[in-house]
Amino acid sequence: MSTYTVEDPRKVTTRRLAEMKAKGEKIAMLTAYDYSMARLVDAAGMDVILVGDSASNVMAGNTTTLPITLDEMIGYAKSVTKGTTRALVVCDMPFGSYQGNPLEALGSAIRIMKESGAEAVKLEGGEEIIESVRRIISAGIPVMGHLGLTPQSINKFGTYAVRAREEAEALKLISDAKMLEEAGCFAIVLEKIPASLAERVSKELTIPTIGIGAGAGCDGQVLVLQDMLGINKGFSPKFLRRYADLATVIEDAIGNYITDVKSSDFPNESEQY
Ligand code: KIV
Repeated sequence: MSTYTVEDPRKVTTRRLAEMKAKGEKIAMLTAYDYSMARLVDAAGMDVILVGDSASNVMAGNTTTLPITLDEMIGYAKSVTKGTTRALVVCDMPFGSYQGNPLEALGSAIRIMKESGAEAVKLEGGEEIIESVRRIISAGIPVMGHLGLTPQSINKFGTYAVRAREEAEALKLISDAKMLEEAGCFAIVLEKIPASLAERVSKELTIPTIGIGAGAGCDGQVLVLQDMLGINKGFSPKFLRRYADLATVIEDAIGNYITDVKSSDFPNESEQY
């Protein structure tokens, strides 16, 4: 039984997220990659569903987010939008689909919007990709930024450790966040940075920040669905709160099914025609 009751049943829009920040109302965001889970996440009252490129890890079984393609992301996002009525659906632009040049970025963003029905896109990076961000927004496509730990750059940094602990990197992050806001982004994900820095950025921006491993000072929070449901037990960073142990529930259910089939207990009289 859910403990949360939706107070405002209206469809969530980027404008609504801005109002939430202005009122000090926290924004709840969670990932989803398929129709069935999106229906549950949406019905529970989620504000934003992110079709994250974390699908590369938790759905496709890759060790990084780099291999996932634009076609794959569109496929996941298409399933999610079919299962969503209230939440704003944001789709990650995968590695290689926007870094080349602004026109290529625009083409990828247009494909996501046209083919999947997602309502916004998310890109990793600041100054380096700002022209692409501007070009996409100029076509009327809402953009969510993503700063701090940017998993698509794992090969550049070589680690998933906390980012922007040093002053120079923290100052660049603040400047990037302001640049993204000026370019017209409607929100920015802040991943795995010191809580004090995330709080400062959140206070200095008028657009909402959505944190993951960035502390309580952000305007909202995001987690990967499989991680918070305890499906992906091998991943347990400090910032992750587990709300269920679904791995155990699923393992038990599947084990019981096998036992019942092997022992001819399933199906019984009432389970056949
Ligand atoms: O891909 C993803 O799931 C993300 C979140 C972790 C923010 O980008």
